[in-house]
Amino acid sequence: MTASTSSHTGSINLTNATRAYDTAGAPFLAVQQVDLEIPAGQFVAIAGKSGSGKSTLLNLIAGIDRPTSGAVHIGGVDLAPLSEDQLAAWRGRNVGVVFQFHQLMPALTVAENVMLPMDFCGVYPSSERRRIADQLLALVGIQDQAHKFPAALSGGQRQRAAIARALANDPPILVADEPTGSLDSQAAEVVIDLLRAQSAAGKTVVIVTHDRDIAAVADRVITIADGQIAEDTAPTAWVPIEATGA
Ligand SMILES: Nc1ncnc2c1ncn2[C@@H]1O[C@H](COP(=O)(O)OP(=O)(O)OP(=O)(O)O)[C@@H](O)[C@H]1O
Ligand SMILES: [Mg+2]
Repeated sequence: MTASTSSHTGSINLTNATRAYDTAGAPFLAVQQVDLEIPAGQFVAIAGKSGSGKSTLLNLIAGIDRPTSGAVHIGGVDLAPLSEDQLAAWRGRNVGVVFQFHQLMPALTVAENVMLPMDFCGVYPSSERRRIADQLLALVGIQDQAHKFPAALSGGQRQRAAIARALANDPPILVADEPTGSLDSQAAEVVIDLLRAQSAAGKTVVIVTHDRDIAAVADRVITIADGQIAEDTAPTAWVPIEATGA
């Protein structure tokens, strides 16, 4: 696979981060004063009950959303001063996102879906994009599906395509919100193995999950309750990875 080309590393720092939503009464704090440090290369599972704030926290970690107070630094970069356009461009190069439901574009082939983030960010010359997409589809084991439309794939194949798309620009960080939530256990295992391998290759991987199989292979499990970190079990197997270029 291609080496990480980003100058940013995948460390993530939240300092006193709060995400409030306006409601009719007092603001509702979906994430409350969270301090969190995730070193580059760690494989982190975020667990907790429905409504506890997992997705909100993941969106802060990924720069998809911004805190209403407190700070988020990713790879040492403070996201606060970035304009929406700058943030979108930054995210395109630095964060790969996998959702519970693949969210592939139905009118594009699988290969075209994987090339879309490349077209958006211009990390690779256009002449190389198809070759890299094919490499990524081979990595996730569905190179033979490249020319098909997402509707013709199984759920597990779609999620593999979504992982290939998330890896398109070789970002140092990969986040996934319940990536195995819609899969049977066999397809889920493939997805877990792929994400684990990305962490072993040096990427920071943060996964919101109810799946005990993911939590079981994570370096660290963070449990959220009422928008706060209720439990943060220490990494067991994590070692610094040189491949991040940190
Ligand atoms: N746009 C919004 N406006 C108001 N409240 C919101 C908004 N988005 C989320 N919330 C509230 O914030 C809390 C946390 O939501 P979040 O989606 O982060 O939970 P979650 O842990 O991911 O839940 P689930 O496991 O069901 O996906 C919930 O109480 C939710 O109702
Ligand atoms: Mg959620």
